Amino acid sequence: MTRLPLKFPLGKRSFLTLAEAGPADAASLLTHARQVARESDFLNAGPGERALTLAAQTAFLRRLRANGAGFVLKGTLGGRLVAVLSLVRPTQPRLRHRAELGLTVRAAHWGHGIGRRMAAVAIALAAARGLRKLNLRVRADNRGAIGLYQALGFSREGLSPRALCVRGRFFAEVMMGLCLDPPPTGA
Ligand SMILES: CC(C)(COP(=O)(O)OP(=O)(O)OC[C@H]1O[C@@H](n2cnc3c(N)ncnc32)[C@H](O)[C@@H]1OP(=O)(O)O)[C@@H](O)C(=O)NCCC(=O)NCCS
Repeated sequence: MTRLPLKFPLGKRSFLTLAEAGPADAASLLTHARQVARESDFLNAGPGERALTLAAQTAFLRRLRANGAGFVLKGTLGGRLVAVLSLVRPTQPRLRHRAELGLTVRAAHWGHGIGRRMAAVAIALAAARGLRKLNLRVRADNRGAIGLYQALGFSREGLSPRALCVRGRFFAEVMMGLCLDPPPTGA
């Protein structure tokens, strides 16, 4: 069973720590969101476009915990937040078997296996918590992210044209999904 916090060696001298974020992390998550919006053009919000307040972020994290409506994982290196993964689950009975995944890693740390580690841990946690389907949407030209999700078992479920409009240019989004099934019981 996957239990948090988890520590993974990264390179020769550092460790990636994965832990569940709570309301006390709201400010650092907002800072992270502002930073990644400047570092990547693939996200839903560009620099200065995300209007979430500290109070709203804190309330969101509190609600997630209270309702079992998913979780946010924080990835830290030497105490510094470098990656965030969210799994948000609807609470309605017909929808609560599924969750939507979002993942961002600070640009200085791309390509070191952080995204892959976090997503693999999130998938294991989701399965352990009884989730049966993970969904995500990714800009169709984000080849790195699509390659990562495919390597983790996600498959392409559809294409949504004109899903994003960035500085007047339209981009399609690929919808990807991963079914999670409990291991067969007994023989
Ligand atoms: C996409 C993202 C989350 C990947 O995180 P990461 O820590 O850099 O990824 P990893 O180092 O774990 O790479 C895992 C795999 O992803 C793929 N990958 C990652 N970056 C890639 C790139 N720039 N080009 C091609 N493949 C890439 C590779 O398949 C890699 O496999 P490998 O380990 O066999 O080389 C990160 O680059 C990021 O935050 N980008 C900006 C925000 C974003 O696009 N988020 C996804 C929105 S849906």
